[in-house]
Amino acid sequence: MKLLEEVQLKLVSSLKGKDLLTLLDYTSEEVQDLVTLATQLKTLTKNGHCPKILEGKMLGMIFEKNSTRTRISFEVGMHQLGGKAMYLHARDLQIGRGEPISDTGRVLSGYLDGIMIRAKSHAMVQELAEYATIPIINGLTDLYHPCQALADLETIIEHKGTFKGLKTAYIGDGNNVAHSLIVAAAHVGMDIVIATPKGYEPDEIIIAKAQAIAAKNGSTVIVTNDPVEAAKDADVVYTDVWTSMGQEEEAAQRLVDFKGFQINDELVAHAKPDYMFLHCLPAHREEEVATSVIDGPNSYVFEQAENRLHAQKAVLASVLG
Ligand code: CP
Ligand code: NVA
Repeated sequence: MKLLEEVQLKLVSSLKGKDLLTLLDYTSEEVQDLVTLATQLKTLTKNGHCPKILEGKMLGMIFEKNSTRTRISFEVGMHQLGGKAMYLHARDLQIGRGEPISDTGRVLSGYLDGIMIRAKSHAMVQELAEYATIPIINGLTDLYHPCQALADLETIIEHKGTFKGLKTAYIGDGNNVAHSLIVAAAHVGMDIVIATPKGYEPDEIIIAKAQAIAAKNGSTVIVTNDPVEAAKDADVVYTDVWTSMGQEEEAAQRLVDFKGFQINDELVAHAKPDYMFLHCLPAHREEEVATSVIDGPNSYVFEQAENRLHAQKAVLASVLG
């Protein structure tokens, strides 16, 4: 652990007042700087010196879906930075009775300093951002989960020391978590291979955009339907649930379609011996991941969950500070 005096805190000043809807809107330098800031804030916090950069600031947190990590880490993060957070369930707001999100954005801009929102539709969050005059932070939509990806990068750099030359294998559903991880990997120049069953590939437009970013940073983004190809020599093996929130009706079919994509001892035998297992959580043991892997010595999932706190403080401090 570095001494406090050694830590040169550098907020990502170009992000002041900006939204965080997707990491595609950020430069590679901004993403890398956020990850550095996250590790610095972690060190400071563990030494009892988290700077009170957000004193007097209030974050509204709107949720249309359940959450453990996002809700609590944002609330604790605001507290540690000297500000406050307010939990707002969408059904209790007038949006639950049909008030337009555009009006909600304009009204809340008069009360709050920023909004974190977990919503079903990414388009709804874009509309909120269009009308609100305060920063909007995406806490998960159907398309992206950028705060998760920042914590994922923080966890990788803390253990591997670099992103260059690393291979991340994302094996499972080409979903919101996958999309943000792909973009994040491209920004830091880390190779990523995504293996999904046929029909569950990530969005082609997001892949194309990530590939363009990766090319500039000297890395690759590859999509395959072969989990072994992805796992081969991987430094990081990542998965997420096969059925995301809101897809519950498809759960039985997905169990059939994702057969062969479970992260188990047989599959990780293809990865490097010191591979890291990551999962955004919540996890379904013996479904997308074997208990022996998620609870095994190569698993960093609880540290990854803790890093949500520090990665989000880096975002909050930069956009609201
Ligand atoms: N990983 C994640 O976003 O967890 P929650 O759904 O608990 O917030
Ligand atoms: N893909 C999952 C992530 C949960 C944090 C979902 O959207 O439900």
